[in-house]
Order: sequence, then structure tokens, then C-alpha cells
Amino acid sequence: MAADGGRPIDALLKEERRFAPPEAFRARAHVKDESVYEEAERDPEAYWARWAEELEWFRKWDKVLEWNPPHAKWFLGGKLNASVNCVDRHIRGPRRNKAAIIWEGEPGDTRTLTYFDLYREVNKFANVLKSLGVKKGDRVTLYLPMIPELPIAMLACARIGAPHSVVFAGFSPQALASRMEDAGSRFLVTCDGYYRRGKVVPLKAQADEALRLLAGKQDVEAVVVVRRTGDEVPFTPGRDRWWHELMDQAERLCPPEVMDAEDMLFMMYTSGTTGRPKGIVHTTGGYLTGVYATTKWVFDLHEDDVYWCMADIGWITGHSYIVYGPLANGATVVMYEGAPDWPDKDRPWVIVEKYGVTIFYTAPTAIRAFAADGPEYPRRHDLSSLRLLGSVGEPINPEAWMWYHEHIGGGRCPIVDTWWQTETGAIMITPLPGVTVTKPGSATRPFPGIKAAVLDDQGNPVPPGQGGGYLAILRPWPSMLRGIWGDEERYVNTYWSKWGRDIYYPGDGAKVDEDGYFWVLGRVDDVMNVAGHRLSTMEIESALVSHPAVAEAAVIAAPHELRGQVPVAFVILEAGRQGSPELEAELKEHVAKVISPIARPDRVLFVPDLPKTRSGKIMRRLLRDIVEGRELGDTTTLRDPEVPEQLRRMYAAR
Ligand code: WT7
Repeated sequence: MAADGGRPIDALLKEERRFAPPEAFRARAHVKDESVYEEAERDPEAYWARWAEELEWFRKWDKVLEWNPPHAKWFLGGKLNASVNCVDRHIRGPRRNKAAIIWEGEPGDTRTLTYFDLYREVNKFANVLKSLGVKKGDRVTLYLPMIPELPIAMLACARIGAPHSVVFAGFSPQALASRMEDAGSRFLVTCDGYYRRGKVVPLKAQADEALRLLAGKQDVEAVVVVRRTGDEVPFTPGRDRWWHELMDQAERLCPPEVMDAEDMLFMMYTSGTTGRPKGIVHTTGGYLTGVYATTKWVFDLHEDDVYWCMADIGWITGHSYIVYGPLANGATVVMYEGAPDWPDKDRPWVIVEKYGVTIFYTAPTAIRAFAADGPEYPRRHDLSSLRLLGSVGEPINPEAWMWYHEHIGGGRCPIVDTWWQTETGAIMITPLPGVTVTKPGSATRPFPGIKAAVLDDQGNPVPPGQGGGYLAILRPWPSMLRGIWGDEERYVNTYWSKWGRDIYYPGDGAKVDEDGYFWVLGRVDDVMNVAGHRLSTMEIESALVSHPAVAEAAVIAAPHELRGQVPVAFVILEAGRQGSPELEAELKEHVAKVISPIARPDRVLFVPDLPKTRSGKIMRRLLRDIVEGRELGDTTTLRDPEVPEQLRRMYAAR
């Protein structure tokens, strides 16, 4: 097993602490007893159909599931629109004037959009998109930070049947350009800039650079620019238009497009094991059913909750659990633009106190950072409104879990550690907070209707309590990915080829304990998890070799106390180039620029050679042994068995 997030299996097996749902929580919870698991198992399709019935359909489906492994279709023949489900249906009843989005900018400015406000803005922007020539099926790229225009634009795309492709605003111009090119996207929505740690990030300038890189490769017809900071920005007449000017002219109502359940709702790029990111495709009916159901049960969402997920909408967590899941449920969602430690380290707790947040969802890397800052920051604030805490993105170490429980949850809030992926669309393994007895570090059990197992290389189940294997999903689920944009072969090979066409391979190591609880250990492929962000070692390697000084590079994930993992690079320089601290800094900067600051290597080592097999494959496993200070594994298949020992000495010498 390659990665275990730095958590030895035997340490996890010794975790004895148990936390039962507090009686007061259970009494009010949507799910109060275990019978939901058996009910779902009795007839999973009927169970998912019951969930789908809670959505609003123009036309009901004829068939729940068609499963031709590895291709699934859900709710066949059903017609619906995601924006109707997230907005229109709430304005007809008592939620009409309920806060849908409570937004706070980093400088402290605020905006609240009721469901009716959201309805108006979504309709108008849908008409704006149409007026620019966007048609059903066109991919619209949204390169926007955490401002209300992002969910508005997503829902407007959904309204007219144009799949969105949100590119995280922290990504580089190169990353934006390659995603627009891969998606064949002719439309871009961006903004002048946004605030991050008190500074303005010039997003429009970055978008312009991406558009220059696209010249001759991908036509871009229109760029809509939101005014966020008010700073002067470059503007290309004919191509660029201001959001507010277009909105002033826009028709008030836009009838929603009637979408097939299997029509694409959006695509989201994520890192795989090669240098090229994959455009994960999600469809309308199944995705919405999955995020609706999990939001309601995992977060035990009630009408009066104030729900805050600290993720960025530029990642799947934000798509599913800031936008589609909570809004489909008619929730009040808090959205925050900036950094959690700005202007001070208590900003999240200022926000919780100010808006009376009841449900709070974040990542272990953030929790570890809070813990490192110390309990005095949360202690300064009244956090008594909180009733449920969530964690997502990477394995949560029991110490971080305990700190979260005690210092944020005041010992009274259940914690839901939710395992899922960009590809799964919705939460897959998780406690149900009114039912599940939690164990710090375990995501506990598959959500009702989901069938998971831990398998060995041959596909045999690893017996409970017996150590590690691979996580596997044994049956299709509504919110599963439908493919990789433009790459059918990669879809089949990556996810459905390890054991058979009908078993999904997520790429995570896991174990099951005697109680049937799952413990997810981390990636087992060349994908790393840096502060909850997914990165491919190959992507960073290609960025490094694109620098003229670099001949060859191998990147691995090293364990890191706060960030979970960090990239460490082993680099062979071009003949005549000398390694130096200046060049190390330059290469780090280069990676940050080509991919994103998240991908910046923690260390760059200049080495004379890399551990390679006779066929030339780099044995990253040995590099991990070096970095983690382990006994070196088998080196007999290497072309030069001396290399690892040499590298080990170099690594230790620094
Ligand atoms: C990978 C997916 C899904 C939202 C954010 C990340 C890791 C995610 C957990 C968890 C252990 C987790 C896995 C997974 N992961 N949640 N609760 N416990 N590991 O989405 O970027 O698609 O990454 O994140 O390794 O495969 P993503």
C-alpha cells in the first residue's frame, strides 16, 4: 500500500474512543434508527426513486436504472431542470423571502440573497447567456472566486441547459487555458479581481493571459466580467462585457429548459495519475438526487438551519454542498469570499457567531491549522449555535477529530467524516448524525443505498479487522460520474478495470474493522492530497520539466503535519546546469505559476539519477521510502541498485 496519509494502520486499529449521538440531537434528527439501511438494501432502486420523488420533475421517469457496466443511466425518460429545483420551487411557498445565500466578502462587506432574489438574478443571467449566443449543450467556463455571481452563473447555465465548467480561481492562466481547450468552451465568465489576505488578486489579467494562450487553439466568443473590486482592468472591446451592464438590459424571466435526467449538468476537472486533468461529467437527474439526499440526511438539514461549508465552489465540495445540495433543500447557505485567517485567525468563528451558523463543514487541513493556532481563537466567540460538524477531503487524524469535537463542537456536536470524490458527485461513506456511533478517524459506513467493500488485488474481500486493501464500490449510484469528457477509454481504464467492469475503483486504500466501519487511508495511486486539494504527481513533474534547466523530475507526496501531504521533487538538471538555492526557489515558483500555488513543491532536490527499473519506469515507491525515513524496499529490479542509497544520503544531508 503506497499512501496511508502518514497514519500507521495499527495506530488506527487501537482507536477505542466512541461517540454516540447526543439524545437531544437524535430526538430531532431526520434519521433516528438504523432501519433506513435495511430498507435501502431491500430494494436500492426503489429507495433511490423515493429520493428522486422529492425533487420536482416536468415528467417522471420510465425506468430507474439501466446498468450496462460500466455505463449507468438513472431515471430514464425523466425530465427536470436543476435551477427549478434549487430556486423556482422555493419561491412558490414560505421560502420565498428566506435567505438563500448570506455572503460575506473578505473586507467585511455583506450581501444577502433571498430565494426570490436568487430567482430574479438566475433568470436574468440565463437571458444574458442566451443573448451572447450560448445554446443548450455549450460548455460555459466560470473562472470566478467566492462571490454570489458564481452560484448565480452556475444556476443560469443549468437553466438553459449549458453545462458549466468551473475553474478554481486559484488556478493559473495555463490551467484555465488547458481546461477551456479540452472542454471546447467558447464562453467565459470571470471578474476584475477579488480579495485574498487583504490583497487584490487580478483575476481578469489572469484570464486575459489564458485567452492569449488559447489564441489559435480555441475560439472564445464572449467574456463576461463581474465588477468585484472596482479596479481598472484591461478590456477587449467586442469580446469583453460587464456583467452589470448586461444584467441591466436583460429580460426578467427565462423559461427553464426541459432537460433529460441524463443530460449533462456540469463538468469538473480533477487530477488523475497522468499529467492531463480529467473532465468529470455529471448529469442532471442522478446528481441532483444524490446531493439532495445526502445533504438532507448527512447534515440533518432542517428549515431553520444556517449551513456553512468553508470549501471553495471551484471544487466539487462547493458544487455539491454549497450550491446544488443545500439549495435543492431550500437551505440558508453562508458563503465567505476570503482566507480563514484574515484579518485574524478567528475569522471563521466571527462568522459562525455573527450569522448563528448551525452546521459547519470543513477539511482536516483547516482543522489542523485551527488546532495549531490554539483554542483561544474559537474561545473568544459564542459558538453555541453549532449543532453539527463535518469533515471532508482527506483522512482526518484522530487528534484533529478530537480537537474539532472539543474546541469547535463544545463536546456536544456530532461529527460527520464524509468520504467521497469528484467522481462520486455526492457523499458515499459517512455517519448519519442521529444514528451512528462515531469513532475518531473513521468515515464509518456507506450511506444507505451505497454498497462499498475493501478488496485485495484479486478482488477478494479483505476480512474485517485484517489490515489494508483497496476501497471498492460494488453497485452504481445516482450521482456517479457518467464519463470523462472526450475520453471514453480513460474512463473505463481508470475506474472500471481493476477487478471488472461492474466494480468502481476509487484509488483509495482502506480497511474495515470488526464493526464494519471503514477507515480510509489515502490514495494508493500517483495522486496526492495537499491541504485537501487533489494533485497528480505527473502534473507537477510535467510542470518541472517544462523549465529549461530540468531534464527529468520525479515528484512524490511527503507527509506534512498541517497540509496532510506536500510535493517533494527529485530533479535531474540539464547538462551544464548547477543546482543552487536560487534555482530551487525558481523551480518552486515555476510550478506555482504553471499549475497553482497549491502545487508548489516543499523541497526540490537536485540529484544525479533517479531509481529506475530496467524498462525505465521511475520507482516512486523508493523515493517515498527515502522521504518517510523507512527501510528501503526491494531494489533488485533497478537498473542501478545503488541509486536509492545515494539519494537517501543526499536527502538526509539537507
Ligand atoms: C479524494 C477525492 C470529495 C470532496 C473533496 C475531495 C480523499 C476525501 C475523505 C475522507 C479520507 C478522503 C480521498 C479521495 N478524501 N474525503 N473523509 N477521508 N479521504 O475531492 O478532489 O475528488 O478527492 O480525497 O483520497 O479519493 P477530490
